[in-house]
Amino acid sequence: MRLTILGGGGFRVPLVYKALLADPERTITEVVLYDVDPGRLAAIGRVLAALGDLPVRITTDLDEALTGAAFVFSAIRVGGLRGRVVDERVALAAGVLGQETVGAGGIAYGLRSVPESLRIAARTAAVAPDAWLINFTNPAGLVTEAMAGLLGDRVIGICDSPTGLVDRVLRALRVRPGDVRVDYAGLNHLGWLYGVRDAAGRDLLPGLLADEERLATIEEGRLFGNLRELGAVPNEYLHYYYDPAGTLAALRSAGQTRGAFLREQQERCYREIASRDPLDAWLDAWREREATYMAENRELAGAGEREHDESRPAGYEGVALAVMRALARDEPAELILNVRNRGTLPILDDDAVVEVPCTVDARGAAPLPVAPLPDHAVDLVRAVKATDRLILAAVATGSRDTAVRAMANHPLVGDAALAARLVDAYRAELPELAYLS
Ligand code: G6P
Ligand code: MN
Repeated sequence: MRLTILGGGGFRVPLVYKALLADPERTITEVVLYDVDPGRLAAIGRVLAALGDLPVRITTDLDEALTGAAFVFSAIRVGGLRGRVVDERVALAAGVLGQETVGAGGIAYGLRSVPESLRIAARTAAVAPDAWLINFTNPAGLVTEAMAGLLGDRVIGICDSPTGLVDRVLRALRVRPGDVRVDYAGLNHLGWLYGVRDAAGRDLLPGLLADEERLATIEEGRLFGNLRELGAVPNEYLHYYYDPAGTLAALRSAGQTRGAFLREQQERCYREIASRDPLDAWLDAWREREATYMAENRELAGAGEREHDESRPAGYEGVALAVMRALARDEPAELILNVRNRGTLPILDDDAVVEVPCTVDARGAAPLPVAPLPDHAVDLVRAVKATDRLILAAVATGSRDTAVRAMANHPLVGDAALAARLVDAYRAELPELAYLS
């Protein structure tokens, strides 16, 4: 079976390749890497060659890459890290959150990601209509919803954050995944774990939320105060919503934005892949990237070092492989994924892409029932979904004014004049947004 990776020159591709090599059944027998940047493709090709022997082909032709694929991973970054730097800098300069996927920066990113992802979805529907498209491209929920308009339930969005969160909570509770049912729901980077039920239907979560010492053993417990009151463990990205002033100040006072740091680090890493041991060069950069992830948030909350265990399967490549195995081998698996709602969260319509536990088998990913979202989550989920819909409308119509409405509608922007300034500043700096007029 062939797996095609769009964004094949991307930094995290070796993680996927390692997961494929570790798959005892070798479900995937051939990998095709597609990218618009031949230099990055060649570099990642070198790292993969040092990792193992699974055949790899590289191409810069999209149709060629898609043809014959059983699985397509879409992991592109439109505008590259140059774009991410602009997303962050313009927002911070305007006094709002400059972050990859949340708030103003996330909207600017979405306005770039969606048009290209629609083009990919259309080509996939034309030349690989039976392929499963696993979307990693951020903002993953928004992009998956856009692609679902063309691919229906053959597109599945993934993120490693919810899986990591649930993994940490279950370890703190000392229960095994198969023994409990979890209520985790929301949108991508906007979800909560609000129930862990055992076979007898007892909810084990309140016990953990009341136990500060045990809670402090997990990252989310250290990041957020008073989870007992909230009755839930929020996804780490909720930190931006729960402490907007603090997180904004922390990002503003950092010497560099995350994008600027990564741009320098990546330039160095891709150069070094060509000049020294490719695997060492990549591994050094990967470890540094993991260790510094969300560093400002952790510092602000006094949360300490990032918990990082390279042997745990919770990384995004682990989720991707689990989805692929379940689809390809018809081995039912339960995973938290981004799929169309189909009544799971009654506060949203059926076509809204939501992030919820799903059962995955050869027929695809189907959402499992979850308890209703807690009251405190409802307005936030509705507001962010409404923003996503305005972003999709702005892309469909090419309307700058609709993009401004999307920006103004986001809870972390919320001001029409500011929204207009932001959209115009982004348009001035991002050539990919020239379609908005
Ligand atoms: C997590 C999120 C991804 C995001 C990444 C950013 O894995 O779930 O959606 O892209 O972090 O990490 P970075 O190293 O690029 O800041
Ligand atoms: Mn994510």
